[in-house]
Amino acid sequence: MTDSSKPRKILAIKKTAANSPDIPAERRQRAGGRARQVAQQDRARSQQRAAPTREVPVEPAAPRAETSHKPVGSSRQREPRFETESFPHEHSTPDAVPADGRDRNEVTAPRVHRRPRPAAQAEIFPVFAPCPQGIEEALAAELQALGFDQVQTARAGCHFMADWTGIERANLYSRLATRILVQVAHGPAHHEDDILDLAYQTPWERWFGAEHSLRVDTSAIRSPMKSLQYCNLRAKDGICDRLRDREGARPDIDTVRPDARVHLFLSEDTATLYLDTSGESLFKRGWRLDKGSAPLRENLAAGLLALSGWDPSQPLLDPFCGSGTILIEAAWIALGVPAGIWRPFGFERLRDHDARHWRDIKDEARTHIAPQLESPLVGYDLDPQAIEAAQRNTERAWLTTDSIRFEVGDAREVAPPAESGWLITNPPYGERMAADEAGLWRAWSENLKRNYSGWEISIISSDLDLPQLLRLKPKRRYPLYNGALDCRMFSFEMVKAGYRKP
Ligand SMILES: C[S@@+](CC[C@H](N)C(=O)[O-])C[C@H]1O[C@@H](n2cnc3c(N)ncnc32)[C@H](O)[C@@H]1O
Repeated sequence: MTDSSKPRKILAIKKTAANSPDIPAERRQRAGGRARQVAQQDRARSQQRAAPTREVPVEPAAPRAETSHKPVGSSRQREPRFETESFPHEHSTPDAVPADGRDRNEVTAPRVHRRPRPAAQAEIFPVFAPCPQGIEEALAAELQALGFDQVQTARAGCHFMADWTGIERANLYSRLATRILVQVAHGPAHHEDDILDLAYQTPWERWFGAEHSLRVDTSAIRSPMKSLQYCNLRAKDGICDRLRDREGARPDIDTVRPDARVHLFLSEDTATLYLDTSGESLFKRGWRLDKGSAPLRENLAAGLLALSGWDPSQPLLDPFCGSGTILIEAAWIALGVPAGIWRPFGFERLRDHDARHWRDIKDEARTHIAPQLESPLVGYDLDPQAIEAAQRNTERAWLTTDSIRFEVGDAREVAPPAESGWLITNPPYGERMAADEAGLWRAWSENLKRNYSGWEISIISSDLDLPQLLRLKPKRRYPLYNGALDCRMFSFEMVKAGYRKP
């Protein structure tokens, strides 16, 4: 799974496979036949109550063990505007594998009253957290600081291990992850039907059933499969066949606001199925309605702040602030506001969601939010509408209007708000660049050199010649992707010897 849009392909399926006009009839028949074949194999295995051969967790119940991950800060009293929606499921799921060897095809009616399942105390899940490409190390550091075990960077994300409470906390606290995906199955995949088998063998009924709507997304790197759309259908067929066989009914597909999301990731010769516990992408914190032009995603903004080494007790300036993403993100970091405190998550809609436990986690998190910022956060933009958007976003982020100073101003002229601090910014680039590009950089650079010695400067741009245009020698260059744009974050230290002579 990767968050980069470069070499991967992604798609989502709208229609159910069984009736899909896109799939030839013979293939549809084969899907059913294949599913029954798999059912027979699975039945034989079920008598031994053995775990699936692939990495599919089989013990029921989402564990609720409390962990000790804690953010820092002090108390703050405001009530959230975006209270999380909760969809508590009071019934527990049937066992993942029937103990009686019953043919799952015999099950005809949905079982509304499921037996309460015993609480598994500390089931640990393999998790993958995708993130914008280039901030993997920062994400790994964040996850380690949150107390997670076995954190390993991968391309455009990190792997780690967590119990269910940890998974909820990762959703709540991570500023850099795009999603928190729980790996529920992994196996070899040389043919599309291997995906069907893998999906069929995975105990989805632990997390969702016919009472939920479903969306499946597929992405791949170097997969030889001819049609990702067909792979997606195979995964969906496997999930739906299993649920229909076990519970008598299957989920409907909803690509817009699904209750449950599953991600299929294909590599050269393997398939991995993930249960998405986040729902909407985690960069959607819930406060941004006003976008301005070319806004940064919130988790990339948090990534810039992390890579820059900004000390949250120090002044921060964004002279091309647009709708204020970097500064609002910075304010939440400095105050210790958990990134997901005011948004809903996908796991809240799954079966057996423990709403009370989740409320306790969030209540505890709120007690650590600091009452006010220690240092100035300042944003300028030439465009008065961008400044208005930034101010509206600040209010929606539950920040007092004086917490960030947003003003109309020209980066070429604005004075630093303190003797030293961090300047972190996302100036216009690419197609958004003004006609007199060279003039803008020359004048801004002169302002920086004249007035900003003692400042740490970090600039994200897709213009790889930016240091030359600014006539500044970067201390570091961080390769990053802003969506599909290949960018760099250039870091400069504004000491007198740090820039080139004209
Ligand atoms: C890429 S956008 C910044 C987006 C911002 N990071 C966000 O998330 O909303 C660049 C911004 O620079 C502003 N801008 C362009 N020239 C400027 C100048 N000379 N001084 C200040 N702002 C300028 C534009 O109005 C635009 O809002």
